Amino acid sequence: MTSESQQTPRLDHLLSTSSARFDLWRELNAITEAWAAGANGEHAAVKAAMARLVAMEDFFAFPGPQLMRTLGDRITAGDASAAARFVQRISRSLLTGSYRYDSSEWETTSDAGEYDSLAERVLFTPAEGSSHKPYFETLFVTPTPVAERIKVAHEIRRLRRAEDAMNYEPVLVGSVVDALLGTLLNGKIEAVVIFDGVPVPSQHDVPLLHEYLAAYRNLDTSNVVPYKVGVTLAKLIKRIRPELDIYLLSDREVEKLAGDPSAACIRRIFYEAEELLEVHLSILEGLADRFETPHFDNLKRYASRPISTFHALPIARGKSIMKSNWIRDMGEFYGQNLFLAETSATTGGLDSMLEPTGTIKLAQEKFARAVGADHVFFVTNGTSTSNKMVYQAVTKPGDIVIVDRNCHKSHHYGMVLSGAQPLYVEAYPMTEYSMYGAVPLATIKRAMLNLKAEGRLHRLKMLTLTNCTFDGHVYNTLRVMKECLAIKPDLLFLWDEAWFGFARFSPFLRPRTGLGAAAELEEWRDSPAALEAYAAQVAELGEDLDPADPRLLQRSLLPDPRKIRVRVYETDSVHKSMSALRQGSIVAVRDEDYSKHESAFHEAVFIHASTSPNAQIIASLDVARRQMELEGYELVMRATEIALRIRREIGEHPIISKYFAVLGADKMIPADYRNSGFKDFLAAGSTWVTAVKAMYDDEFYLDPTRMTLVCGTAGFDGTSFKNLLADKYDIQLNKTSRNSVLLQSNINNTRSDVALLIKVLLKISMEIENRLKDGGEAEQAAFAARVNGLMTDVPDLPNFSRFHDGYREDPGSVTLEGDMRSAFFAAYEEGDCEYLPLMDARIDERLARGPEMVSANFVIPYPPGFPIMVPGQVIDAATIGFMRKLDVKEIHGYNATRGLKLIRLSAIPGAGQVKAKSPVKPLKRK
Ligand SMILES: Cc1ncc(COP(=O)(O)O)c(C=O)c1O
Repeated sequence: MTSESQQTPRLDHLLSTSSARFDLWRELNAITEAWAAGANGEHAAVKAAMARLVAMEDFFAFPGPQLMRTLGDRITAGDASAAARFVQRISRSLLTGSYRYDSSEWETTSDAGEYDSLAERVLFTPAEGSSHKPYFETLFVTPTPVAERIKVAHEIRRLRRAEDAMNYEPVLVGSVVDALLGTLLNGKIEAVVIFDGVPVPSQHDVPLLHEYLAAYRNLDTSNVVPYKVGVTLAKLIKRIRPELDIYLLSDREVEKLAGDPSAACIRRIFYEAEELLEVHLSILEGLADRFETPHFDNLKRYASRPISTFHALPIARGKSIMKSNWIRDMGEFYGQNLFLAETSATTGGLDSMLEPTGTIKLAQEKFARAVGADHVFFVTNGTSTSNKMVYQAVTKPGDIVIVDRNCHKSHHYGMVLSGAQPLYVEAYPMTEYSMYGAVPLATIKRAMLNLKAEGRLHRLKMLTLTNCTFDGHVYNTLRVMKECLAIKPDLLFLWDEAWFGFARFSPFLRPRTGLGAAAELEEWRDSPAALEAYAAQVAELGEDLDPADPRLLQRSLLPDPRKIRVRVYETDSVHKSMSALRQGSIVAVRDEDYSKHESAFHEAVFIHASTSPNAQIIASLDVARRQMELEGYELVMRATEIALRIRREIGEHPIISKYFAVLGADKMIPADYRNSGFKDFLAAGSTWVTAVKAMYDDEFYLDPTRMTLVCGTAGFDGTSFKNLLADKYDIQLNKTSRNSVLLQSNINNTRSDVALLIKVLLKISMEIENRLKDGGEAEQAAFAARVNGLMTDVPDLPNFSRFHDGYREDPGSVTLEGDMRSAFFAAYEEGDCEYLPLMDARIDERLARGPEMVSANFVIPYPPGFPIMVPGQVIDAATIGFMRKLDVKEIHGYNATRGLKLIRLSAIPGAGQVKAKSPVKPLKRK
C-alpha cells in the first residue's frame, strides 16, 4: 500500500462518494487559495490534497485526465495563482453541473487566457430550443494503455452527431475491478462498453476497496475465468446497477456468444473491429428506451391537442376554471397543463388503467423491468389498495396467512375482504420506545411447524411481512424465504415495501428487498451448490422435517431446490420514496405460478381500482420509474449520506446530544439478531465493509435512512415534538411514538435540510439548557420527572390474545388463526353489540370473572398505529392496561363517549353462555 493510497480514506467510503468527492474539491480549493495568498508551507499541503483527489478522479469524466494533468503541472510548477483559479473553476463547474452542457468548461485554458495546445475540445452538440441535452457518462472498459486513453476518448467524442438526443462523455478504465469501482463510484454512468479480454486486477492500490468488493459476496472477482471476462464482468456490473446497458466488444466468435444464455444481460454484442458508430448509436438508443415514458409522453401529446370534451369531467381542459370569476386562482396556482392533461378518456390514443393495452401497459412493463418483476400493476389509491388487491387475488375464505400483527391495517382489511384467516405472529417489542421491531424468523418457523404438526400446513397460503417496518427494521428476505420454503415449498410471500421502494436502486439494500431476494433465490436454486447443500441437510435432518425436532428452530434451513416455487409479491408506495404523486403505488409480481392467479388478479383490479383513475398519478408513476432507472442510484446514495450526516451531527454535538439521540442499530435491533456484531453505522470500527457484512448476515438490518430521534430525553412526547417542529420551525416529520419521532431522509433532501434541522435542534437544546439553569432545583426536578415519565414509565405492549373460540375451527389448536371476517360482519348488527367505556369498572369485573369481552372492530391507536384489537379478538387485561395508559388522542375504531364496542356472546357461534374466569390477571386501575 502506498502512502498516497493511505491518504484516500474517502475513496473507501463508497456509499458517500459524491459528497466525499465534493468535500475533497472544496478542501483543495481552500488550500490552493491560501497558497495563492502567500501562506507559508501550503505548497506541500496542496500537493497532498491533490494526491487524495487523483485516485478518485480516474472514475469520472469531468474534469478528466487532461484537466487533471494541466492542474497537476501548474501545482508542480509552483504557479499558485493559476492553480487556484483552475481549481476554483473546476469546483464551481462540478457544483453547478455546468460541465454537462458547456463545452468551454472542458478547455484547459486558464482564465488568464492561454490555450493549452495539448487540449482537445469537448464539443457538446447543443439541443434545439433553449434547454440543453441530457448528459451522462459511459464507462469504457478497455485494455488501451493509460497513455493512449485521451486519444481513444477523443475518437469516441468524434462520433457525436447534431441529431443525437443526448450527450455522453467517455470514462476509460483498464480492468475488471476498476470497472466495478467505476460503477460503484460514479452515479452518472449509464452505459458500459466492455472490450473482452481486459485484465482483472485493479490499477488502483486501495486495499479496503478490494475488501469491500469481496464483502459483497456476489461481487467477488477472485474466480473470473480469463476467457469469460466480458460476460462475467457484465453480470457483476448488473448486480450493482441492473438498469445499466452493457455492450460487449469481442474478437471471439460473437455469434456464439450472442447465443449463450449466460450473456443475456448484455444488450448487444459487437465484433470488436467493427462499427464504433453502431456502438455509439446503441448507447443512445438504450438511454432513449429508459428515458421514454409512454404514458406521460402520450398525456403531454394529448394535452397539446385541441380537443372538445363531452365527458363527465368539467375540469378537463380547464375552461370551467380559467373562465371562472371565483375559482381562477386554482388555475393560476396549478398551471394550465394540469387541466389540459386531465382526462377521463381511455380511447383516442389514451389507454385504460383497468384493461391496459397501450401506453399504460407499456409503462407498466417498463416499471416491471426497473424493479426486476415479471408484472407490475399501477395503483392510484396507495399501497393500502395494492395490499388489498394481493389478498383478493391470491387468497380465499379458509386460507391461512401468517402475518405480522403489527402490519398496516390494509392487510387486516384485506383478509376481512378475502376471508383468509390471519395467524398473527408477534414482532419483538421495543417497550422503552413504545414501538415494535420485526418478527423473528424463529417465531415464523414455529408457527409453520405448529401448523404442520396439526395437519393444517396445506391451508397456509402466504406469509406477509412489512419490509422495512415503519421504523426501519429490514428483514433478511432471502433467508426468510429459504427457510420458510424449506417447510412449505410453494408458500407465497407478500413483502409490503410501502417505505422501501427506493432500496431497489441501492446495491447495498437491494438484496434485502423482496424482489432482490427473489432473483438471488432463483440464482441459488439453479446452482449446483444448492442441491449439494440440501443433500447435506437431508443427511442430518431427513427429507420430511419433523416439526417436533428442536434443531429446526435453532439452525438455518434450506429448501429442496428441485421443489421450490418462487412466488413473490411486493407492494411499493412509489409516492413515499420516489417522485410519484400522492397515492401512486405498484403491485410487483414475480410469481412462477402467476398463471394460477392471473384472472383473479384482473378481478382484483376491477374490484379495487377506481373506474376514474387519475391520469396524473399514472403519469407520475411512469416518470418516477424513468428517474430511478436513470439517476436512482445516485439519489439513493445521497439520501443515505444525508441520513449519516444527521446521525453524525446529532451524535457528536456536545449540546444537542445531551437531550436528543438517534437510535443506532444496536438500540433498534437486539444483539441476538445481529450475528455479525455490527453496532451502528457511526460506531467505532464500523466501515462499509462491516456494514455490508451485516447486511448479508444479520437477521435484521437497520435502514440507514430511517432515524428514530428520541425526544423524551428532552422532555417532549413524540406528538408534541412533532407539532413543535411543524408549527414553529416548518419542519415536517414522519411518525411519532410516546417518546420519539421518526425522521426520514429521501431522494429529495439536501444538505441544507440537514443544516436547518441541526440549527433547530440546537436552539431547542439551548432553550432547555437555559431553562434548567435559570429555573433552579424546582425546574430541574420537574424536567427529570417529565423525562422519567416519558422514558421509563411506559406501558407494556400487549401481544395478540386470541380469537374467541366461536371464530376458531378448532379451539384446541396451538396456532391461533381465526375467522376474522365473520366477526367483522357480526358487528354490523347493532343489536348484537354492546359498549363499555374504557374506564368503567364493569370492564375489570368482566376481566376478573367473565364473561369474556370480544372486540367488535379494529381499534387502532395513532401512535403506534397497529390494531391492538381486531374483530373477534378476546380482550385481555394487557390490552386494557395498554389502552388505559395510552395518552394519544387519535384512536380509530374507539368511540370515547360510548366505549369499546363488543360483540355480545349470544351472537357468537357456539358461545352464548358465561365463560369461566379469564386466566389473565386484570390490571389495577390507576
Ligand atoms: C407498511 C405500510 N403499508 C402500507 C401502507 C399504505 O400505503 P399508502 O399510504 O400508499 O396507501 C402504509 C402507510 O403508511 C404502511 O406504513
